[in-house]
Amino acid sequence: MAHVWRGVMREFADRLGVTDASTVVTLGEGGTPLVPARVLSEMTGADVWIKFEGMNPTGSFKDRGMTVALSRAVEHGAKAVICASTGNTSASAAAYAAHAGITAAVLVPEGKIAMGKLSQAVIHGGQLIQIRGNFDDCLEIARELSENYPVHLVNSVNPDRIEGQKTAAYEVVSQLGDAPDFHFIPIGNAGNYTAYSRGFMEEAAAGTSTRVPRMFGFQAEGSAPIVRGEVVRNPETIATAIRIGNPASWELALDAREKTDGYFGAISDTAILAAQKLLASTAGVFVEPASAIGVAGLLERSAAGVIPAGSRVTITVTGHGLKDPQWALTQEDGSQVTPTIVDAAPRDVAEVLGLSPVGAPA
Ligand code: F0G
Repeated sequence: MAHVWRGVMREFADRLGVTDASTVVTLGEGGTPLVPARVLSEMTGADVWIKFEGMNPTGSFKDRGMTVALSRAVEHGAKAVICASTGNTSASAAAYAAHAGITAAVLVPEGKIAMGKLSQAVIHGGQLIQIRGNFDDCLEIARELSENYPVHLVNSVNPDRIEGQKTAAYEVVSQLGDAPDFHFIPIGNAGNYTAYSRGFMEEAAAGTSTRVPRMFGFQAEGSAPIVRGEVVRNPETIATAIRIGNPASWELALDAREKTDGYFGAISDTAILAAQKLLASTAGVFVEPASAIGVAGLLERSAAGVIPAGSRVTITVTGHGLKDPQWALTQEDGSQVTPTIVDAAPRDVAEVLGLSPVGAPA
């Protein structure tokens, strides 16, 4: 019989220390595709693969950590969880809490989360509160409430989240048969950068891979505290998922960069949108803007001569493009894409498509 994927806690039970499968809260997350990127490989001379995390149940990598965080919360008798979010964490927390039959309170920056994510938090029954402030303000409040009220914090400062997210690195190693030479990934709070670094280091220590990839993480130019080495008070980028000025896992990320001979870089919003379009139109993988930053990062580092020909490169694309579709319909000059409209006549459609009838002289 074909293997049926059971979610990361059951698939990696030994690695995650799952002792009681009865309290596992899962929507079947993980087991996402690793897609070869032919055009990106041709452009860079490397062997490039895309870890498509938009294929998780709520459309982002957050589900890998949320299954662990919600399972442990339920195990400890929690009736409510809380998180701050730029959108994806709130969507995931609301869905997993709904599945577990408990409440999720989600704090998001007013007007700064994508419509798809907002709709997810709402439909899953999350108690959604928009804060007049940015993500960093939301996280401060969520932390304080979790210390003084009976609500369980499920942001990535909760180590259960990082534990679950490590499983993506395990999967990459098993999909490729070894670790890549380089791994490219977006950075917001720096939790996922930390999680992949740990996952890859564990694989090497266990002997399932022969190397640890150099971990290359990227922030948006207007929101690049780790690259600049200082807190950004008013972070700005169209990649709202990573619009974070004071990352919670900053120190952990610095440590991971050190241990993996890694790199942190900043990428412009223009380059992010160009990479999003390139990936969708050449690899068939549609991601939200923040998730395209690793692709932009690879092109930038390749142009800088840092990626030797033949290197094996993996890029984590963290969230699905349908979460924030407006950018797909926005052109470089800011105008909207308007599809051509014709009468309901085959000949008119053929003309627009530039087709001549079969057998007609060329
Ligand atoms: N990509 C996407 C699509 C995200 O939603 C996030 C984080 C990141 C990358 C960065 O990951 O924070 O671990 O460095 N989103 C969080 C949220 C902050 O609230 O959904 P990170």
